[in-house]
Amino acid sequence: MSKKAKEQLLQGEDWWKKAVFYQIYPRSFMDSNGDGIGDLPGIIDQLDYLNDGTPDSLGIDAIWFSPFFPSPQHDFGYDIADYCDIDPRFGTLEDFDRLVEECHKRGIRVMLDLVVNHTSDQHPWFKESRSSRDNPKRDWYIWRDGRGPNNKPPNNWRNHFFGPAWTFDEATGQYYLHSFLKEQPDLNWYNPEVRKAIHEVIRFWLDRGVDGFRLDVAHAYCKDQQLRSNPPFFRRGKNPNRMAFTDQDLTYVIFNLLGLPDLQHKKYNLHHPETHQVLKEFRRIFDAYPGTTSIGEIAGDDPAVVASYYGNNDELHMNFYFDFVYCRFNADSFRRCVERWEHFLPKEAWPAYTLSNHDVTRAISRFDQGHRGDERARLLALFLLTLRGTPFIYYGEEIGMKDPRLPKHMLKDPVGRKWYPFYRGRDGARTPMQWNSGPHAGFTWGEPWLPVGPEIEKRNVATQRQDPNSLLSLYRKLIWTRKKLPALLEGSYRTVNWEVPPDCYFYVRESREQKLLVLLNFSDDQRYCELQEPGLAGEILISTNPRRREGEKISSIILAPYEGCLIK
Ligand code: NOJ
Repeated sequence: MSKKAKEQLLQGEDWWKKAVFYQIYPRSFMDSNGDGIGDLPGIIDQLDYLNDGTPDSLGIDAIWFSPFFPSPQHDFGYDIADYCDIDPRFGTLEDFDRLVEECHKRGIRVMLDLVVNHTSDQHPWFKESRSSRDNPKRDWYIWRDGRGPNNKPPNNWRNHFFGPAWTFDEATGQYYLHSFLKEQPDLNWYNPEVRKAIHEVIRFWLDRGVDGFRLDVAHAYCKDQQLRSNPPFFRRGKNPNRMAFTDQDLTYVIFNLLGLPDLQHKKYNLHHPETHQVLKEFRRIFDAYPGTTSIGEIAGDDPAVVASYYGNNDELHMNFYFDFVYCRFNADSFRRCVERWEHFLPKEAWPAYTLSNHDVTRAISRFDQGHRGDERARLLALFLLTLRGTPFIYYGEEIGMKDPRLPKHMLKDPVGRKWYPFYRGRDGARTPMQWNSGPHAGFTWGEPWLPVGPEIEKRNVATQRQDPNSLLSLYRKLIWTRKKLPALLEGSYRTVNWEVPPDCYFYVRESREQKLLVLLNFSDDQRYCELQEPGLAGEILISTNPRRREGEKISSIILAPYEGCLIK
């Protein structure tokens, strides 16, 4: 990396605490060769949009790339057949090196997706493992005999896509475990050779200049060694830390009423204590490359358990907190999530927040009820970018891309194809990035692998760039302003303790030199309030309401419906 490039990068080993991350789903970002699938050269062409060093660009500091490694694409790259190469659909290793260089030149750090709970069934390791019972790689995966005279699966575990977690392999007469599709066999993390092989993979990419990893389903690596069957869902016990009955729980129950036998509490195949050892070993490698960071995809309904993956500052650097995905659109729901997480995090731990990703309906569509998504998306942008912690923006979120409702014949996600019409899968959140209002939104000149989302004439980069009141302009303003506000970058968080109007959520961010107040009105009505926070100048820095006069000094305010304000 050149000296100038180094200077551009956020300095310090904990740069990731100040960074704004952006998730790219490479298949859908930009297609450079007309095959309808996004690729690395396409991404390189668009890096200036993400950060060209000026407030005309979005201004993000790091990218998390969903996988682009060789893969049969049963789970669109989350089934990896070679950890140390690039899938030809996406480019070559030379393209990758250029991508890293071009990112670093612009001050953008590169974060890869480490998918090591499982491999593809086409990975040479699994092919070997499957070839005979006495193959030296047999124990790299989890093979077991069937149970009883009817050769039933070894236990009752279900995979996370609502199907059986075991598949019988005729050739060697045993079952193998897969926490996801049958094409994604689980690695055996108790085998020291597996650990060593993955450590080499991590070093391979760190040596090539990457700045960190997102750890796919890291809470699933180690399972109960006796492979005990899971208890029923409703025996998961009382837990005051858990969110009240969530939409996810509701989906769960509906699925089960429909006869999909998934009603179990995943006691023995998630959050096994040994997983913490695996993460500590990873951390030692990361620490040997100063400035490297990591974020876990650790899902769970108990924030205390999720928070434990920070260890004693010797496991993950950051951990996704997914509760916003299950929030209802009201002030209390969001406030409780933040307070719960703030409460359970270990002292040194750093939060990471996201509203959307490639596995869930985009926030703007989740909260669209009655076409209110656009205003709500503006409020959530201000919320995400003013919390204490590292924000992750999902590609297209900044232009308000919405999930289309795809008919069955257009679905690509195997989970959606299997459970349609009860669940349409994840394709809706993975449609091509909308660059302009032309054919296929400027993503490709070929036939895109998925159709573009709705209303591309207004939900596209080119149009919104010109409009100072667009969602994109709000994101740009928030991101660039954030960089200059120490209270947002490193200040403390506190929910205000004075009287707040109904369905509003106010908090204070405070550093040694600065105090900021965030006002969020989640209601669809105006809300009046007097600012009772001492030590504030009362200057409006940013509002989500295009009619608000920014820069004005106030001591009280009538918030418009769904308005959010950042006040100095
Ligand atoms: C979580 C990923 O986000 C998801 O897309 C994938 O299907 C599973 N892990 C399996 O790797």
